[in-house]
Amino acid sequence: MRSHLLNDTTAERYRRTATAAVERVADKLAATDRPFTGITPEQLAPAFDAIDLDRPLGDTAAALDELESVYLRDAVYFHHPRYLAHLNCPVVIPAVAAEAVLSAVNSSLDTWDQSAGATLIERRLVDWTAHRIGFGAGPDAVTNADGVFTSGGSQSNLQALLLAREEAKTRDLAKLRVFASECGHFSVQKSAKLLGLPPEAVIAIPCDGDKRMQTVALARELARCTSEGLVPMAVVATAGTTDFGSIDPLPEIAELCELYGAWMHVDAAYGCGLLASRTRRHLLDGIEHADSVTVDYHKSFFQPVSSSALLVRDGAALRHATYHADYLNPRRMVEERIPNQVDKSLQTTRRFDALKLWMTLRTMGADGIGELFDEVCDLAADGWQLLAADPRYDVVVRPSLSTLVFRYIPADVTSPAVIDHANLYARKALFASGDAVVAGTKVGGKHYLKFTLLNPETTLTDIAAVLDLIAGHAEQYLGESLVHAS
Ligand SMILES: Cc1ncc(COP(=O)(O)O)c(C=O)c1O
Repeated sequence: MRSHLLNDTTAERYRRTATAAVERVADKLAATDRPFTGITPEQLAPAFDAIDLDRPLGDTAAALDELESVYLRDAVYFHHPRYLAHLNCPVVIPAVAAEAVLSAVNSSLDTWDQSAGATLIERRLVDWTAHRIGFGAGPDAVTNADGVFTSGGSQSNLQALLLAREEAKTRDLAKLRVFASECGHFSVQKSAKLLGLPPEAVIAIPCDGDKRMQTVALARELARCTSEGLVPMAVVATAGTTDFGSIDPLPEIAELCELYGAWMHVDAAYGCGLLASRTRRHLLDGIEHADSVTVDYHKSFFQPVSSSALLVRDGAALRHATYHADYLNPRRMVEERIPNQVDKSLQTTRRFDALKLWMTLRTMGADGIGELFDEVCDLAADGWQLLAADPRYDVVVRPSLSTLVFRYIPADVTSPAVIDHANLYARKALFASGDAVVAGTKVGGKHYLKFTLLNPETTLTDIAAVLDLIAGHAEQYLGESLVHAS
């Protein structure tokens, strides 16, 4: 069994095995002609029942053969131009190469003595991102911005709200209130619950027609809460809402946070790609006033999952996540100035995800990433024109980033329930066909479909073709339901 341990004596075996795995995936990617096979859980599950985990196959080649049939063959492939569903991006090769390095070396980012240079790489990337945000610039700048890599946007938002709770003017959790737009991410509510806040703590602020937080309504709610003796703990502004890519008015929100002494958190999990854009960076103007910012490199920096970070304007706030354990990071290490990232993180053992972004920046540069993100934003703008001109579809808002929310509207049908069902059916049927994968959401209580465009290889022709497929499935549903009704 020791021959499976990766060490000095097995380097050659490692080379062969890793190469075989890479070749398997490369062949698969080259041959994949659709984003999904359409397999159902019922069809796939029996293959797992037949696998006895207590009877190993003995060699990796056999395990890879098996993996082909239970996973690779039917996986959902985000690199395919007709995968248009969730906030999953195709990944850049330098970052995938970094995955091979980081899991083989297996550094852990909790302490210096488990990571050495890896800690410094993460710190440089935190500084780089903070600089792009604009922390440390301008006349009222705090120059000790800091941050830490996390597992994803949900964890970044949780940690941001933890810091906000600890910095709030009261310890009475029942009095704390968090404000986020009605289009904000659900991890805000979930975090509030995990942080011990009452169910009514998160106040949903209505959005305008462009799905941006209405700051007049925010001002009203902040005033109301304060007059009722409640404490505005945080305002979560979203820079790139999950459904619409809309960006809340950051400068106005910053002013209100200042006025009411509320922590300003910007959830830029999706919109962070703008930090690398040479043409759209201005859409994030005002982000530099935030107390904390969530960035998900695994959404708009074309990084493999996981790759995310929380940045804070004043690094001292991260002390709220600090706990000194004698075995790991005793207090004296602070005096000895030994850099330990665990002092800033909710996690202890932690992957060296930062290496992926490092390799990406060192290979392609930020402009390269920004160009890719600009391309998908341009594509969404063109897709919007297409949808707006298509009488079969209703499209919700002109995109700021790269999503399109729309629904099929049958020509002669007025029943809202039938329209809903036709759209739900079309999404399911498309998924089952494997021809394309699209997402769904609700707007004003009605079912809509969604394209999240994160693949620069997707073309307007792909979008037009998928719209035809959706219309075809919806019409088939309507035809069949007419037959059943008669
Ligand atoms: C705006 C926003 N915030 C936070 C998240 C959560 O990020 P993650 O899935 O990386 O936890 C998402 C995910 O889609 C998001 O769209």
